[in-house]
Amino acid sequence: MMKVVIVAILALATTLVSAYDPSPLQDFCVAINNTDSAVFVNGKFCKDPTLVTANDFFFSGLNIPGNIAANKVESNVTLVNVDKLPGLNTLGVSLARLDFAPYGLNPPHTHPHSTELLVVIEGTILVGFVTSNPNKLFTKVLNLGDVFVFPIGLIHFQFNIGQTNAVAFAGLSSQNPRVITIANAVFGSNPPINLDVLAKAFLLDKNVVEYLQKQF
Ligand SMILES: *[C@@H]1O[C@H](CO)[C@@H](O)[C@H](O)[C@H]1NC(C)=O
Ligand SMILES: *[C@@H]1O[C@H](CO)[C@@H](O)[C@H](O)[C@H]1NC(C)=O
Repeated sequence: MMKVVIVAILALATTLVSAYDPSPLQDFCVAINNTDSAVFVNGKFCKDPTLVTANDFFFSGLNIPGNIAANKVESNVTLVNVDKLPGLNTLGVSLARLDFAPYGLNPPHTHPHSTELLVVIEGTILVGFVTSNPNKLFTKVLNLGDVFVFPIGLIHFQFNIGQTNAVAFAGLSSQNPRVITIANAVFGSNPPINLDVLAKAFLLDKNVVEYLQKQF
């Protein structure tokens, strides 16, 4: 009996110690009082359960490669999130297909709300992520069937180092993982970040910063 009570207390204590606010599903959510002009969390209401069908939990087409010729980095991510698969709402997962041309790159980026678990289906992919300061790099070359996890929020990349196309699939721990592509966020923000800020932060001449801003 005593044992049961102690176990119960320990379980409760563990729950309390690890308790925290649920992670946000969007970058911010400003509080308002008038619900008429409110957008609900992640912009999704729940469908009346009596009207739900199997198709609400279904998505078709992840066999089709994304278009890798259309962009400079020569990679493409096809994301199946709650916008494409409504049944994902509130479930905390999504799925992505990643296609790479030879030497195609999914450039350094982070998912502010999501851990990513990647499996290689075709090709050879160099992957890595960097920890928060002091910025240790963990990197690995992945081949067919290899799996790698990118912890939530950390900057990571995937680079096809093979001479053929590469394909990977990734599970993400959010219905809407979002992405911040580092170079675009820093050099391509709208409006642009002040030139002096970027020159000083990246130890660059202002004309180099201007050049980089033009690329994004
Ligand atoms: C919202 O309601 C709270 C509590 O009644 C009040 O203190 C606050 O001033 C209100 N905010 C706005 C923007 O009306
Ligand atoms: C990725 O591929 C899709 C489907 O072909 C295409 O609509 C989209 O524009 C591509 N994205 C990029 C960034 O090239």
